[in-house]
Amino acid sequence: MPTRPAILILNGPNLNMLGVRQPELYGRETLGDIEAACRERAAALSLDVDFRQSNGEGEIVTWIQEARGTADGLIINAGAYTHTSIAILDAVLAAELPVVEVHLSNIFRRERFRRHSMISEAARGVICGFGGQGYLLALDAMARILTTDDRQP
Ligand code: DQA
Repeated sequence: MPTRPAILILNGPNLNMLGVRQPELYGRETLGDIEAACRERAAALSLDVDFRQSNGEGEIVTWIQEARGTADGLIINAGAYTHTSIAILDAVLAAELPVVEVHLSNIFRRERFRRHSMISEAARGVICGFGGQGYLLALDAMARILTTDDRQP
């Protein structure tokens, strides 16, 4: 049986606090709830998922480096590092994988400093403002990218 495409889903700082953290912005779903929904959608799409969270920029960089050659696609919500991290951007560029960037909140209707994303420069597309559902939309998009055999970043 052919192996299923492997999708790495990375979550950055403070996303482990979902459910209790500013629910008016981020909703009541926990990261565990989002992970469970992603696993269900991935199974329906015949994708394998590796779902992780870290508060550390260096750890996220290392995981993205490891994804080169082991994953087929990357879905990333880098949290606040989205707006600041050239290191994560560089890692994503070096990974040479299709990337879908996700944000729970609509970063364009919040503070000015959230309107710029470092990661977007390396992303195929960005989904924001749909809460946890954004991760499922990202999986749908990734399945489409991989089945059209267009694996370029
Ligand atoms: C976020 C938006 C970021 O600006 C913020 O720092 C986060 C979460 C989102 O999912 O909406 O931590 O990435």
